[in-house]
Amino acid sequence: MLGSELSDLNIEISELVEKHGNGRQSLLPILQEIQKRHGHISGHAQQEVARLLDIHPVEVNGVVSFYAFLKTGIRAKYNIRLCKTISCELANKASIAKTLERELGIKFGEVTKDERYSLEYINCLGMCDQGPAMLINNEVYTSLTPHKVIEILDNLK
Ligand code: FES
Repeated sequence: MLGSELSDLNIEISELVEKHGNGRQSLLPILQEIQKRHGHISGHAQQEVARLLDIHPVEVNGVVSFYAFLKTGIRAKYNIRLCKTISCELANKASIAKTLERELGIKFGEVTKDERYSLEYINCLGMCDQGPAMLINNEVYTSLTPHKVIEILDNLK
């Protein structure tokens, strides 16, 4: 996604927060409106909503995953999102990214041919003291090592 498209989306979301209010009860109406306009709620949109409502991104992701009428726009069965923010970066996120790419045979931003796995980066999940951290759908995995990642992927098979 281009930078200008990202900032357009940020502006749009901040307008929605202004319209609905920044309380927790506004979460669903805001998500519904994003979905109506875009046909899905991207990972970036989810993080922006979480930031503006000051709630945990995992919670927003949980709501999007819970309601079948809300879509993430990702076609894969397992949407894997690795935190790319500073604490996880320092906790050797790079080795986790490498392992995921090698094991799945795709790069970040791609979906496997069989549409089983997608790989994306995500911003801070609020698990900074337990990094590196990632989400698979709405499940959080922390204190990752390359070995642990291989085990997690094996369990998905
Ligand atoms: Fe990765 Fe916060 S920096 S969870």
